[in-house]
Amino acid sequence: MTKIGKDNIFPSLETERLILRPMTVEDTDFVFKHFGDSAVYQYLLDEPPVTEYAHAQEIIQFYSEQEGKTYNRWVMVRKSDHQPLGTCGFHKWDKRYFRAEIGYDLGPGFWGQGYMMESLRAVISNGFEQMRLNRIDALVYVENNRSIQLLQKLGFKQEGVLRDYFYSDGNFYDHSLFALLQREWKP
Ligand SMILES: CC(C)(COP(=O)(O)OP(=O)(O)OC[C@H]1O[C@@H](n2cnc3c(N)ncnc32)[C@H](O)[C@@H]1OP(=O)(O)O)[C@@H](O)C(=O)NCCC(=O)NCCS
Repeated sequence: MTKIGKDNIFPSLETERLILRPMTVEDTDFVFKHFGDSAVYQYLLDEPPVTEYAHAQEIIQFYSEQEGKTYNRWVMVRKSDHQPLGTCGFHKWDKRYFRAEIGYDLGPGFWGQGYMMESLRAVISNGFEQMRLNRIDALVYVENNRSIQLLQKLGFKQEGVLRDYFYSDGNFYDHSLFALLQREWKP
């Protein structure tokens, strides 16, 4: 993983096949389509799907203009054809306790090729090195098997199940809490 661009806390990151760059207004069309795709939002139960263009604009504004930067989002762009594939980043960065939550979503046409694994390896390294995190949390709907498999491959350990943790469209959804500690990370 190579850091490129400005030497800030959330720099652009380069992996073998991808550039991860901070989300900007130029990504509005992509964000609108991506978060409106049912395969993407079906397990993102903490947020409603994006059905209005204004909602995509709000998401971009949220990530780009935030004071204090406790949330961030990279857009994963394939180097070979500049295709945006998905997004990933940190939520709820708590500097006092050296922890944050990780979040990620890949367009369904790009599943099964290791793109998220490649991205998260760079994102996690940035978290432990640049942000000086000690602990990275991940909250996953209990039936989101692809996501659970990805976290386990990265070394995250399951710590429990948070019953009825999110409420969406009239239903409550159990979520598993996973976490990775800095001392367990194998870059
Ligand atoms: C969760 C999600 C990112 C997982 O996507 P994914 O494609 O399974 O994950 P990866 O990109 O890491 O790819 C891993 C797969 O690629 C395969 N693969 C192919 N080439 C690979 C490579 N070079 N390196 C690693 N894996 C590779 C792996 O074997 C694995 O396949 P398998 O699932 O058949 O075992 C995706 O399902 C998603 O975005 N879902 C919707 C949003 C979501 O649920 N987000 C998470 C909320 S908690």
